[in-house]
Amino acid sequence: MMEYQVIENINISLSYHKLSLEIPPTAKLPLPGQFYTVRCGETKDPLLRRPFSMHRLIKRGEAVHLEILYRVVGKGTEWLSRCKVGEKLNAIGPLGNGFIFQEDVANVILVARGIGIAPLYGVAEAVLMRNQGARIFILMGARTKERVFYEEECRKIGRAFFYTDDGSKGFQGNGPQLLMHLMERKKLPQRFCMYACGPSHMLRDLADISEKFDLPGQVALEEHMGCGLGACLSCACPLRASYIRRDKHWEKPSLQWSEDRRQVYSLICKDGPVYDIQEVNWNEWVV
Ligand SMILES: Cc1cc2nc3c(=O)[nH]c(=O)nc-3n(C[C@H](O)[C@H](O)[C@H](O)COP(=O)(O)OP(=O)(O)OC[C@H]3O[C@@H](n4cnc5c(N)ncnc54)[C@H](O)[C@@H]3O)c2cc1C
Ligand code: FES
Repeated sequence: MMEYQVIENINISLSYHKLSLEIPPTAKLPLPGQFYTVRCGETKDPLLRRPFSMHRLIKRGEAVHLEILYRVVGKGTEWLSRCKVGEKLNAIGPLGNGFIFQEDVANVILVARGIGIAPLYGVAEAVLMRNQGARIFILMGARTKERVFYEEECRKIGRAFFYTDDGSKGFQGNGPQLLMHLMERKKLPQRFCMYACGPSHMLRDLADISEKFDLPGQVALEEHMGCGLGACLSCACPLRASYIRRDKHWEKPSLQWSEDRRQVYSLICKDGPVYDIQEVNWNEWVV
């Protein structure tokens, strides 16, 4: 648990905000996909810390700034949006496991909806750091054109395609439909690795595409979290018992098996929030 000084906290569009915090010199640096739980209030209401992904890490001279992209949805984020430059925030992190990158990664597709872009932006930056020639494609969307944000930033890191449910901006449809549309028209490389964050039904549809076309993928899951530390079991996520990745990086200390060992649950805060797209039991998870 540490105090992080607020360097910037700005509204970027509608309910979307960007927060920049100075990372204390003794603190560990986060990896893309990892998250922090932040105390969002001075009183006991709200009682629980709120989880936020690392969006970007920016080095400014000796200092390292952690950027968090957030959407105001309730009491905690509303409080956060009122924090002023110079104030201190109490945060725990980095928590969880981040995304993994193959050293020779060449083609990457990021699929985001709304605030789902938050943990994915750092993926593009990490991939480009490993391979400057890597090709990054971003599929970014929302309900309507007014809700599409971060357009310029997306174009800065790769080739961006936009989608909206009502067709008011870009492709009419959702992220997985746009992905299929681009694949059918050969607008994407034949082989690529996809990284996604957004609503569970979007991730489930992407998992179907990944399975059908044998494309690797990773997802960052978001669930209500009580403790963020593996103690309260509020973030359990069902995995496919026959497909659990448990090599060094994908170590999963918090798996809970049913007595007949047919069902297995993972704690997103400890084992995730990043999973191989095929290991989540989407039929049990999507509500
Ligand atoms: C690992 C992780 C990383 C996250 N990263 C980000 C991020 O980078 N940026 C960001 O804006 N948000 C992120 N979230 C979601 C964020 O934690 C919630 O939006 C926040 O806790 C809401 O707090 P609140 O007090 O403002 O809203 P509340 O009053 O707690 O809730 C307001 C509404 O939002 C819904 N809600 C709250 N939390 C979640 C959730 N986790 N999943 C689905 N619905 C929820 C509630 O059901 C309610 O309808 C992340 C969540 C997780 C688990
Ligand atoms: S949030 Fe408490 S166990 Fe994951």
